[in-house]
Amino acid sequence: MAAHTAAEFVPDSLKLDELAHAAHDCKGCDLYLDATQTVFGAGSVEADLMLVGEQPGDQEDKSGAPFVGPAGRLLDKALAAAGVDRDRLYVTNAVKHFKFTFGERGKRRIHKTPSRTEVVSCRPWLLAELDAVRPGVLMLLGATAAQSLMGSTFRLTAHRGEVLRLPDAEEFKFDPAVVVTAHPSSVLRGRPADRDKAFDALVSDLRFADGLLAGGR
Ligand code: URA
Ligand code: SF4
Repeated sequence: MAAHTAAEFVPDSLKLDELAHAAHDCKGCDLYLDATQTVFGAGSVEADLMLVGEQPGDQEDKSGAPFVGPAGRLLDKALAAAGVDRDRLYVTNAVKHFKFTFGERGKRRIHKTPSRTEVVSCRPWLLAELDAVRPGVLMLLGATAAQSLMGSTFRLTAHRGEVLRLPDAEEFKFDPAVVVTAHPSSVLRGRPADRDKAFDALVSDLRFADGLLAGGR
């Protein structure tokens, strides 16, 4: 049984490459046991907009990079529609290892939502990334990311379209504007009739987040 925190694996460093390197050996919870590799965040250390998803999916687990599978392609389409260049961003996940079960035939790996314990275990990596990048705007994609940073009772749907602040100011060493939106996978999973609306809402939330930067906050 692994320890229930990544804290002891996180080096005292603000360098993203050092953090990513150390994260590859994390055993802060049991998810490292079955996953292929740690999928650390990726992007610019200068990013003024940081996006946080839930956890890597099947393709991210194999490739080692965040948001490169179906959800990543949807996100890329939404970013393009919003006029936001992904190269300007830092993109990461609340949990750095893929959690899955096997489908009925035993081959296909099916995403499983990480538990609260796993999210809390992995949080020190997310806090370290936040501290290294210090984005002006932090956009949380979906309930897992939102609850990791805003608290376990946080209701995403009640706060879409608002500019929020991180709670527990002492724990965070800086104060980005926080916005929350639906997870790109939820757009893909929605009923076909709802998909266009859900996609447009994601694009509009991305524009809103980007606009906060343009407005100089
Ligand atoms: N979903 C996520 O939340 N993150 C990824 O990196 C891929 C899919
Ligand atoms: Fe460590 Fe996070 Fe992976 Fe758990 S999910 S082993 S805490 S990196």
